Amino acid sequence: MSKIELDKLRQVYYIRNPQTRKTEEFVALEEFSLSIKDGEFVSIVGPSGCGKSTFLDIVAGLTKPKSGDIRIDGQLVNGPALDRGFIMQGYALFPWRTVMRNVAYGLEVKHVPKKERLDICKQYIELVGLSGFEDRYPNELSGGMRQRVAIARSLAYEPKVLLMDEPFAAVDAQTRETLQDELLRIWEKTKKTIIFITHSIEEAVLLADRVVVMTPRPGRIKKIVNIDLPRPRTAADVRLSSDYSWITHNIWELLQSEFDNCNVKVPVANDATNVADEIAPGTQI
Ligand SMILES: Nc1ncnc2c1ncn2[C@@H]1O[C@H](COP(=O)(O)OP(=O)(O)OP(=O)(O)O)[C@@H](O)[C@H]1O
Ligand SMILES: [Mg+2]
Repeated sequence: MSKIELDKLRQVYYIRNPQTRKTEEFVALEEFSLSIKDGEFVSIVGPSGCGKSTFLDIVAGLTKPKSGDIRIDGQLVNGPALDRGFIMQGYALFPWRTVMRNVAYGLEVKHVPKKERLDICKQYIELVGLSGFEDRYPNELSGGMRQRVAIARSLAYEPKVLLMDEPFAAVDAQTRETLQDELLRIWEKTKKTIIFITHSIEEAVLLADRVVVMTPRPGRIKKIVNIDLPRPRTAADVRLSSDYSWITHNIWELLQSEFDNCNVKVPVANDATNVADEIAPGTQI
């Protein structure tokens, strides 16, 4: 059984047409079906406005789809719950809480006793490399550090699933690479199921087991690309791999043109002899 099952999600918004002054239906998501395995890392890429956040909000339970089902572990999703951690682009920390108390938030909601709470928080603060910053407030941290607090906060209450909407978009390139490596390390260690939205094809390929490519208006799945690059991965190692360049190039081309949804076998890095036969540079996948 899959961890997350999305069945024909459809979402519409109602917008006012300034010309006719009538309210019109705008289809943001259509026929969106996807199965995600337990412990799988799935990235979503697509043009701005194609419905990525709309989709993730539905998985988070923040909004209900117009039609279609979403199930986690076979259970219908009817609203937000602590089985899902949601990490947004704007850090979304509580500015009046210290790092420690931000990370503790979900555990407080779960009524975890204080001593146990502190131990768990320390463990996750250490995991994201912020030991020594427990008593700082968010405004005393850099953007990258705030994002790490957001990650620690989401991990601390042990959600089964992590939902990340462009979490590293607002940080500089160097910090972004550090955060990508940290996320890969944390994922290797915790084996959470992760859905990660990004505008960066490179980031999507570096992190994911599969990259879902979306089309706009309405948002549909255009193609799902399997990323068979070896693990464990680091940004520096992956960047040097020729397979990585080809895969990112092909997804780039894919975003430029219309194709039906299907799975693509991407050659593994240590099987270089077959690479040219299976997928040549510039080939559309
Ligand atoms: N509350 C809303 N009311 C009306 N239209 C909306 C609403 N929220 C989103 N939309 C529209 O739905 C479409 C999808 O929006 P969404 O935010 O999901 O896109 P996105 O893929 O996340 O874009 P980006 O990459 O820019 O974050 C867009 O055309 C947007 O204008
Ligand atoms: Mg968005």
